[in-house]
Amino acid sequence: MTSHITLVTAATAVLVTACATEAPYDPLQDYEELDSTSIVPAPRPAMQRVAPGDRDAVERGSYLVELLGCGACHTDGALEGDPDLARALAGSRTGIAYTNPLEHKNPGVVYPPNITPDEDAGIGLWSDTQIANAVRAGIGQHGNRRLATMPWQGYTKLNDDDVEAIVAYLRSIEPVAFEVPGEVRPGGKASHPFVYFGIYRSR
Ligand code: HEC
Repeated sequence: MTSHITLVTAATAVLVTACATEAPYDPLQDYEELDSTSIVPAPRPAMQRVAPGDRDAVERGSYLVELLGCGACHTDGALEGDPDLARALAGSRTGIAYTNPLEHKNPGVVYPPNITPDEDAGIGLWSDTQIANAVRAGIGQHGNRRLATMPWQGYTKLNDDDVEAIVAYLRSIEPVAFEVPGEVRPGGKASHPFVYFGIYRSR
């Protein structure tokens, strides 16, 4: 009987020690602060040869892609203020959390995809309509859900000519075979870093 009590006490002691050493969850423990960068240079991907008739559309598309800041997410390094211009628009291995990482340790994360015309890593096999729908309506390739964190809400008013110009431009740039990590569902552990665009308002 005595030995039984001793055993229980010992077990309790271990349990108490384990609890005491486990630090409370610090939501920022897995993060480092990056320098704030207000201006990210817009990347200019290398051009493929373009048929003369398409030149106007491609030029306008280039202007719109720069103006609308597509490369600020779709270029590796850009989300951390250091875009890899050799891989302009070829996707980002830094992701964007779409659920709040300050509330949940493992948020859902999407990695801005490769939008160069590479047939495997990029959107080379997408139809014009599929690309237009992604940009203007946030519809993914298989149309099953709205794209997360892609700011298509800001692009819904693009007229047909402008969307066609963007498509013409995206088709004109060099394909880059650069794979980005797949989506991480909430609760899963991301293998690559991510940023979070949170908006807080005081109560
Ligand atoms: C704030 C970051 C951000 C900006 C700016 C942005 N995108 Fe995206 N885009 C994303 C993310 C993230 C996804 C993937 C979302 C998902 O899978 O749910 C995406 C998806 C896409 C897709 C679908 C590709 C695929 O493989 O699923 C296309 C096409 C696309 N974006 C084009 C553009 C164009 C063109 C612009 C500029 C007009 C642009 N994006 C601006 C973040 C961004």
